[in-house]
Amino acid sequence: RVDGGTRVFSLTADEGQMEFTPGMTTPTWGFNGDYLGPTLRARRGEKVAVEVTNKLPETTTVHWHGMHLPVAMDGGPHQPIEPDAQWRASWRVDQPAATLWYHPHPHGDTEEHVLRGLSGMFIVDDENTGTYGLPAQYGVDDIPLVVQDKKFTAGGEFQLDAQGNEVGLLGNVILTNGAWGSVLDVTTELVRLRILNGSSARTYDFAFDDGREFSLVGTDGGLLEAPHSTDHVRLSPGERAEIVVGLEPGSETMLRSLPPDLGNVALPSAYGGTDEFDVLLLRAADALQPSASLADRFAPVERFAERDADYERTFEVQNREINGLRMDMNRIDEVMQIDSTELWTVTNRDLFPHNWHVHDVQFQVLDIDGTPPPAELLGWKDTIYLEPRRQYRIMMRFEDYVDDDKPYMIHCHLLLHEDEGLMSQFVVS
Ligand code: C2O
Ligand code: CU
Repeated sequence: RVDGGTRVFSLTADEGQMEFTPGMTTPTWGFNGDYLGPTLRARRGEKVAVEVTNKLPETTTVHWHGMHLPVAMDGGPHQPIEPDAQWRASWRVDQPAATLWYHPHPHGDTEEHVLRGLSGMFIVDDENTGTYGLPAQYGVDDIPLVVQDKKFTAGGEFQLDAQGNEVGLLGNVILTNGAWGSVLDVTTELVRLRILNGSSARTYDFAFDDGREFSLVGTDGGLLEAPHSTDHVRLSPGERAEIVVGLEPGSETMLRSLPPDLGNVALPSAYGGTDEFDVLLLRAADALQPSASLADRFAPVERFAERDADYERTFEVQNREINGLRMDMNRIDEVMQIDSTELWTVTNRDLFPHNWHVHDVQFQVLDIDGTPPPAELLGWKDTIYLEPRRQYRIMMRFEDYVDDDKPYMIHCHLLLHEDEGLMSQFVVS
């Protein structure tokens, strides 16, 4: 609905139920339905408002992951929505086209609320949308994929507890867009998949069962500078990848998750490092609509250089702490100066996985243990996997939305870790 120049969305979080397998009923939570939520979509420059109504029995929040917006609209732990209350978030979309998402962020309960089914995509368009030969017909050749692992109890409920695993809950079933054994009927020569790892703890390595190459065209914060041809892409919780893949008429290929390289972890099998799953069967029609060919180059992405840094900070991640501290809602950990560029050194001191998510901004990876980042980490990112015992230098710029009181969050997006306090708060001053 467009209202006086503002694009208005309504989301109602409510309880529901689903039959993920015939005969088994699972209690769920969802937005505007039983499970997950609608894809929201807006264009750069547009004013948007989202009216969120909470019909759940618990307080929740809705956070716009990857969105650049004023902190009061961020939907983090400081913007609770009580049962039966409504919260209106409004801002002007001001960032490049990207695949973002939304999910709850109530402090201490995020993993449970996400596992019950509260998540959706938020697609940002800009002047480049529909160009470069990128497939752009939503639901036809431009397909959102919310990938989540689940575990069901004997009674058919979602397992909500990590059962002692230090990375969080690892499921044994994959739901793709809320369905078990998802199939996509392909009608065009090229298909663009916007893949979101919407899981709470699992890292995937997405690839096709026949080893075919595809083009990685975008990451968390937007398009890469050029398509990168590869046969796999690793995504940790919260990360997104946009890929373009071609199919022959009448053929099939299975998008799978292969055993991910988790880096130097103590025991890969304990963290999903040996697991494999089917994610989505792509089944091509006998006659396919021709697709434009993909451009060799997209818009240039200006890279930060080390000398651009106005301030430097160091973050050590260990157990559930950042620099030796757990999250305290009443403590501001860092103050960023407006109109400044920052260089952060982030190190995972543990022998198990973490990742690193920053609210409000998109960042770039400068280097990893002193080595330039691989192609899949050359674009804008808001979340990166932290391999054990490695040092990541990232850069970002703060140029809007001063608020000395209300903080944005930095945290591990393994949701158990986030809930247990691996999170800190910063203001832009
Ligand atoms: Cu996707 Cu602070 O979260
Ligand atoms: Cu972590």
